Amino acid sequence: MKVVRLLAVVWFQNHSNVPSFAPEFMNRETWTTVDRYLADLFVPPDPALDAALEASTAAGLPPINVSPNQGKLLQLLARIQGARNILEIGTLGGFSTIWLARALPAGGRLVTLEFEPKYAEVARANLVRAGLTDIVELRVGRALDTLPQLAAEGRGPFDLIFIDADKEGYPDYFAWALKLARRGSVIIADNVVRNGAVSDAGSSDPLVQGVRRFNELLAAEPRVSATIIQTVGSKGHDGFAIAFVTADP
Ligand code: DHB
Ligand code: MG
Repeated sequence: MKVVRLLAVVWFQNHSNVPSFAPEFMNRETWTTVDRYLADLFVPPDPALDAALEASTAAGLPPINVSPNQGKLLQLLARIQGARNILEIGTLGGFSTIWLARALPAGGRLVTLEFEPKYAEVARANLVRAGLTDIVELRVGRALDTLPQLAAEGRGPFDLIFIDADKEGYPDYFAWALKLARRGSVIIADNVVRNGAVSDAGSSDPLVQGVRRFNELLAAEPRVSATIIQTVGSKGHDGFAIAFVTADP
């Protein structure tokens, strides 16, 4: 078994953007086990959420939804924020959408934007099952089209904006998030560490470069106070950016 482990370590070193040797990189199994332990404690089985994941898998959606524990974290952040008006960029199958929409008080609304019609169709069915069709508005199209439409309709400001779409688009989505925010809004972005690849300035991966640009813009933006927290779990090693809008955008 030791030999297999060593071979696996060597393979991983040669097939990842990890900058240097560290046995921790073999610990995804542990992270997943602990993630499951925590989810068993803090995320009781839920018919709508479970059905949303099952339907997403059955429809062949990529398994890149936030994990159950991450969904709970998003919901907690929305509740701490007292969010009444939430914007999500990147619906996928609507798993995070359900978590966030359930954080809303009576009369609250969530707008979620999805580029892929197939993903949107799966999400729509999941939102119906979750009983959220009166609360959630799903708009299909390029976010760079639907975001200006929302602005033109005066749909902002949003109290919480969650960015979880194509990574190359993050710099633009951040600019739009700011336009659709107010002083006191919270902006959250998923996948800003990407298995550690984000610290490699020379990365040739356009997704990594999109996230790096976003992270730099976030850090340099005087209208927000922000940080990025690394995470490990069933989705491997990644991170969330969390920003508080401190000035009128
Ligand atoms: C990817 C996208 C995600 O939103 C995510 O959470 C994980 C991975 C991706 O495109 O690789
Ligand atoms: Mg994501």
